[in-house]
Amino acid sequence: GSQKVAMSNLEKGKYINYQKMEDNLNVVRSRLNRPLTYAEKIVYGHLDNPHEQEIERGVSYLKLRPDRVACQDATAQMAILQFMSAGLPQTAVPTSVHCDHLIQAQVGGEKDLARAIDINKEVYDFLATACAKYGIGFWKPGSGIIHQIILENYAVPGLMMIGTDSHTPNAGGLGMVACGVGGADAVDVMANIPWELKAPKVIGVYLDGKMGGWTTPKDVILKVAGILTVKGGTGAIIEYHGPGVESLSCTGMATICNMGAEIGATTSLFPFNKRMSSYLEATNRSAIARYAEDFQHNLQPDKDCEYDQRIEIDLSTLEPHINGPFTPDLATPISKFASEVKKNSWPSELKVGLIGSCTNSSYEDMSRSAHIANEAASHGLKAKSQFTITPGSEQVRATIERDGFIESFEKIGGVVLANACGPCIGQWDRKDVKKGEANSIVTSYNRNFTGRNDANPATHAFVTSPDLVTAMVFAGDLSFNPLTDSLKGSDGKEFKFSEPKGYELPAKGYDPGQNTFQAPPKDGASVNVAVSPSSDRLQLLKPFKPWDGKDIIEAPVLIKAKGKCTTDHISAGGPWLKYRGHLENISQNMLIGAINADNGEANNVLNQQDGSFGPVPTVAASYRDAGIPWVVVGDENYGEGSSREHAALEPRFLGGRAVICRSFARIHETNLKKQGMLPLWFKNPADYDKISGTDKISILGLNSFKPGQDLDVEITHKDGGKEKIKVTSSINEGQWGWFKAGSALNMMAANAKK
Ligand code: F3S
Repeated sequence: GSQKVAMSNLEKGKYINYQKMEDNLNVVRSRLNRPLTYAEKIVYGHLDNPHEQEIERGVSYLKLRPDRVACQDATAQMAILQFMSAGLPQTAVPTSVHCDHLIQAQVGGEKDLARAIDINKEVYDFLATACAKYGIGFWKPGSGIIHQIILENYAVPGLMMIGTDSHTPNAGGLGMVACGVGGADAVDVMANIPWELKAPKVIGVYLDGKMGGWTTPKDVILKVAGILTVKGGTGAIIEYHGPGVESLSCTGMATICNMGAEIGATTSLFPFNKRMSSYLEATNRSAIARYAEDFQHNLQPDKDCEYDQRIEIDLSTLEPHINGPFTPDLATPISKFASEVKKNSWPSELKVGLIGSCTNSSYEDMSRSAHIANEAASHGLKAKSQFTITPGSEQVRATIERDGFIESFEKIGGVVLANACGPCIGQWDRKDVKKGEANSIVTSYNRNFTGRNDANPATHAFVTSPDLVTAMVFAGDLSFNPLTDSLKGSDGKEFKFSEPKGYELPAKGYDPGQNTFQAPPKDGASVNVAVSPSSDRLQLLKPFKPWDGKDIIEAPVLIKAKGKCTTDHISAGGPWLKYRGHLENISQNMLIGAINADNGEANNVLNQQDGSFGPVPTVAASYRDAGIPWVVVGDENYGEGSSREHAALEPRFLGGRAVICRSFARIHETNLKKQGMLPLWFKNPADYDKISGTDKISILGLNSFKPGQDLDVEITHKDGGKEKIKVTSSINEGQWGWFKAGSALNMMAANAKK
């Protein structure tokens, strides 16, 4: 227990604490008295209060203390702006920021990167300086994709991480519980607020047999996605176990965990094993491997532990799969794929094959694809379809360049893109087909929703292993099955691909390539964070004002929203996303999608000051500027959808004080509380009908309010008539403190000063 092993070679002085996990588990074991899954060991090992925390899978809300936070550049902007507004000197846990989402693929790696650095300069400058100031590791554009960098540098068996990207579970390949979250959760953990998670159910996937031939780790998750469908993992951790695990490389396990996001799983996870040790050693982290071996008993499931659901897969008979189009759970084994293409009239010509991305760009993946490319080249072939390669990191790129794989790809017509998300997140300036033209592409990525890659709703995108993508680009046709079909070489002779061979790890070790990491200085206090006051993409946040201790009197109803009001109605995405670091600008989208119950229109509400009608954000700002607080009235499940924190920041920024609804979606409700808003529930849901957009609302008795109590609300109608109703809330003691302080961050800042 006295060992001191650093969590990462890049963060000296921050140590792995397996002993704390063990101590927590001793407490939990004595209370639960049953064998534990591996997922439970990590999750309960990170409880804030193992003695008193209620623990029931699928029921209790756990308060957890993750070990680290990771943010990608798109979501990091608001998270860091918020963190800054709290005025804390450093993040409470080690944090890293990764510039990968804002780089568009046009012509190839180097030029695309140079252009992105130019276009996004102010965002990158902001992130770089803010990271330096607050002790955050900063990965510059070109360093690679967040999940690959995490696997190479930060993922540790048994630890817990949250990341502001849905494929954060990739780190489960190294036995880490790694969950994708919204910016609000990231800010909490950075500011030392416990992270709340509903105690996950655990789905056990038992792997038997041994993987071989054309079958790859990707096929495990393609198969599991077919079984569980896109919703099947919701609220659960997928825990792989069984003898088949040993035949998977560490990076292969990461691929499986990565794509678990496609079935809605909280995360996915493999128990610590030898293959992980090999990867840790290859990435210069032998000390972590040895330390994990000492704590092996906590890094695997207990014998006879119980899973909420069980799935069994025999790797020896598992066929390669291709999933899609338009959804990742439409799974077809390769032997049936050609006939499905015909039957469904999917465009048979393969326009583009794309390999790499955060899902599938390991050394092993690349070496197998290079093997296939070399074989095709030896028969005089070039790719018939366009073929792109996205290395997951600078380290992977430099290593596969040194070892000749890039040459192999380029020889057959492949184009190596920047070490970034690129076409995977729609950053693809595709020129070969017109918008609306039906066509097919095959990728080794994870997600294939309509329009994701190229914004063309008619593009049929399929996801599969890099092996199949690479083989298929030589046929240029979806109906080609490399396991059974032949191709004609340039000499006119037919040949069949041999089974792809690759290497788990580079024999000569990894080549780190260019140094793309900016370590934070020891003391960042003097660093100036670069935000131009004239920027339209970034704006510093001011802390929200604390509560003045008074009741909220005669606040106009800004809008009474009718029916569904999701976070997309409250804070639309799409073109607005470029303002996600600029609260004032993005607030111009506040509630513009919500339907006004009074007139059935979107974005047209009464301004009670002068009787005029106008856009919701305009009317809200006019109240705010006149010092008049306002409230929103909503229907059932208000704020369902994403965890987007802007949906709670915007109403607070524009002067809102409360949202009164029939019911709330839980995450949005919590986000409102964090920003110092009051989410209130009609005690009697029928009271929704008593209110209209011409009314004023008083919220009474706040001074004597105690969490758990109801509150009195007085409605003042246009004609001066008044009626009283009751509202209730789920505000607890700590959250009441957030309201009083003005926001959760204000409270953390005040506590830090004490
Ligand atoms: Fe990026 Fe696509 Fe992965 S967007 S993080 S490469 S899923």
